[in-house]
Amino acid sequence: MKLFAEFHHSGDHEGAWRLPTARPDRTNDAGYYVERARIAAEGGFSHVFFADFVGYDPVVRHQVRWPFEPTTLLGAVAATVPDIGVVATGSTVFASPDDLVDTFATLQDVSGGRAGWNIVTAGAPVAAAAFGREAVPAHDARYDAADAVVDHVRAAFTEETRPLFVQAGASPRGRTFAARHADAVFAATPDREAARAFRDDLHARAAALGRPAPLLLPGFLVTLGSTDEEARRRRRQLDDLLSEGTIATLLDQFGLDLPGVGLDDRLPDGLVTGAGFQGIRSRAAVLEGVARELGPDVTLRGLVRHVAGSRGHLQHTGTPEAIAEIMADWVGAGAADGFVVKFSHNPGGAEDFVDGVTPLLRAPGTARHITLTRAGDPGGLPARVPDPPPARRPRSRRRPGLSSLTPVSRLDNPQDPP
Ligand SMILES: Cc1cc2nc3c(=O)[nH]c(=O)nc-3n(C[C@H](O)[C@H](O)[C@H](O)COP(=O)(O)O)c2cc1C
Repeated sequence: MKLFAEFHHSGDHEGAWRLPTARPDRTNDAGYYVERARIAAEGGFSHVFFADFVGYDPVVRHQVRWPFEPTTLLGAVAATVPDIGVVATGSTVFASPDDLVDTFATLQDVSGGRAGWNIVTAGAPVAAAAFGREAVPAHDARYDAADAVVDHVRAAFTEETRPLFVQAGASPRGRTFAARHADAVFAATPDREAARAFRDDLHARAAALGRPAPLLLPGFLVTLGSTDEEARRRRRQLDDLLSEGTIATLLDQFGLDLPGVGLDDRLPDGLVTGAGFQGIRSRAAVLEGVARELGPDVTLRGLVRHVAGSRGHLQHTGTPEAIAEIMADWVGAGAADGFVVKFSHNPGGAEDFVDGVTPLLRAPGTARHITLTRAGDPGGLPARVPDPPPARRPRSRRRPGLSSLTPVSRLDNPQDPP
């Protein structure tokens, strides 16, 4: 099982920054994120991932979210935490192909070959506005252009020295793109059977292209407590901290077309995004499934409270045992190869996971025992050569290679049993 840790400053739940334990005073403190990554490395996570959305995000009015540019921040993480891969987000629409080569070659060098690129096309109108454009190209056209960008970046490296390619295509066009390029695919799939179908589909698309199938890593929001009641109390506390402004912003991000539906009105059947919405369109179908599960009486506010933090990803509020069970069950059922774990709140969320869930995933002799796989193991990410001979270490930023820093394979997790 591969574990990636995703960090937002105060946690994934949009109310988390208002918890008394939150540390908004450390918003611009790189050491805070280094500490998070160190906890993740100790807890069996092979990679740490920072999301990034290009452009001004109005949500910053209502919470602490993305204060840092992640690639720069991950340079600091890689330089100080030796045992973890660092996955940064880079847009194929707003960065030039050569900029992407430069950035990720440098991150490869700084990290001794542990860099990953979360390849996003980025379609939000705010992204276009940030670059003085009227609009971003249409959804499928963005992926057509991205094919050429990734080919360009790939060609600048040797296969052994390139960064890990991560992607999160969910639409049919996005899945074809992921099958063609990605080593690992992030997914918002709260339903196990849908995740299994997604994984099967990725395998079929990759086989048709003659490529090894990428790993499927669903996002998983965890809200932990030592008892179910404690976990539920924590989640209720977080939900109650959602401001009206945050709720409105979340709704905006989903792009749902709900004319005349008030926050305390029942949801209409069939949630759809507005015609002009260029954000993550596939999320409306995910929310539709969530709404169905919540029952016919669910209000718009109820839906938003439910998906706060997870934004449509798999989530569970409960004990470490229940979380470990779900993870083992999904991997055993062929619905996932691992997870992108999202913590409800930080500090505290990552610590609770590492203290409570990691030992259960590692404990031998139990029904839920799962080996956190190393690179090269069946089901693991493809192994890379960790230390190429000196002749293959060009120093030019345009001809990237691995640096002479302590070589740690970006896919290895020294914590794992072999
Ligand atoms: C776990 C996860 C993390 C993501 N992180 C980002 C991100 O940092 N930036 C971004 O622009 N999109 C991000 N996305 C959105 C994807 O890039 C993608 O647009 C989305 O999954 C919809 O797929 P589609 O583009 O094929 O419609 C993420 C998606 C998932 C599931």
